[in-house]
Amino acid sequence: MNINRITPKVTYCGVNDRTKPLFENLWELPNGVTYNSYFVQGDKYSAIIDASDSGHATGFIKHISDLLGDTAPDYLVINHIEPDHSGAIPMLKSKYPDIKIVGNAKTTDMLRGFYGIEDNIIQITDGETIDLGNCHLKFLLTPMVHWPETMVTYFEEDKVLFSGDAFGCFGALNGAVIDEQMDTTLYFQEAYRYYACIVAKYGQFVQKMFEKVSSLPIDYICSTHGPVWHTQRQDIGNLYGKMAKWDGEKGVVIAYGSMYGNTTEMAEALASKLADGGVKNIRLYDVSYTPQSRILADIMRFKGLVLTSPTYNAEIFPPVESLLTAILERGVKNRIIGLGGSFSWGSQAARKMAAKLAEKPVTLLSPTPQLKQANQAMVEAEVSQLASDMISALEN
Ligand code: FEO
Repeated sequence: MNINRITPKVTYCGVNDRTKPLFENLWELPNGVTYNSYFVQGDKYSAIIDASDSGHATGFIKHISDLLGDTAPDYLVINHIEPDHSGAIPMLKSKYPDIKIVGNAKTTDMLRGFYGIEDNIIQITDGETIDLGNCHLKFLLTPMVHWPETMVTYFEEDKVLFSGDAFGCFGALNGAVIDEQMDTTLYFQEAYRYYACIVAKYGQFVQKMFEKVSSLPIDYICSTHGPVWHTQRQDIGNLYGKMAKWDGEKGVVIAYGSMYGNTTEMAEALASKLADGGVKNIRLYDVSYTPQSRILADIMRFKGLVLTSPTYNAEIFPPVESLLTAILERGVKNRIIGLGGSFSWGSQAARKMAAKLAEKPVTLLSPTPQLKQANQAMVEAEVSQLASDMISALEN
């Protein structure tokens, strides 16, 4: 058995990265990440679908040459040219100078801009097909999932969708490639974090992509990150569908900033009241400590959110402001949001957070406890009211 074989004509040839500390130099990678690539062999021609990051070009090309021996691949299909999937192309092209690169007009432009490559390019349009010999690859443009040039490739005979970043997740692979050969719990958790950090801003385009591929019979989803989805393809599809609509589970994320522990105490009191009211999924995060990717993942997952910030230099505490900006950039909607503040002599943070959230498609709860110095007793009633309003809103 070849553990990398997906169908008789499709073989996995991607690489694992367990050493990069930050994806996009922003998002932590405690479980690593994959740069997935696939080799498709038709009766006449062969194609590589998606390449790899430049730091792993050697390993990626070794996987190709192990498969092909002395022969050369005929095509490289670029579904997505972000450098985590294209950095290896110059090295691939120097080993296989006659390889034809398949992409759309936007891909061509970026291929020139990133790598100065202008020759042996086949520019396709939406819906076009190439035949590798009883093996038809159909290209469907799916812009903004997650860059403007993104497209998916559908292998018609084997019902395989090469989906680019869509349906991807963080997490390196540990031996097996296809979902049914592994425990996928970690990858589903990492799908929230990956989507929240990388794709969330483009949810409306994810929905358009769904519409475009919904009529295709699909047995395998081969994304650029994480496992190949086969027996759990419906589950990952449902999860992406939920996230694209900001459809949240019952639960509350309390993300707080705290300089001297007083705001922490208020956040803990709120969590206790929520728990007392029957909320089982509560996540408390100190935004100065927990990596933003983890907080964003749970904000993507749960319907309730409370942001609590000290006033700092008459502004929102910087790490809370950074989180709020990230949420707004991602087009937050369908969330029930509570706010809280703390201050020593002039309260500004809660008001400024409320102003940023005004007119957004969220439910903003009105009780806004604002803790003065360390006087918890003064805000106790409002904390209770906020908990109770949150519980009622979660039920509706
Ligand atoms: Fe995995 Fe948008 O690149």
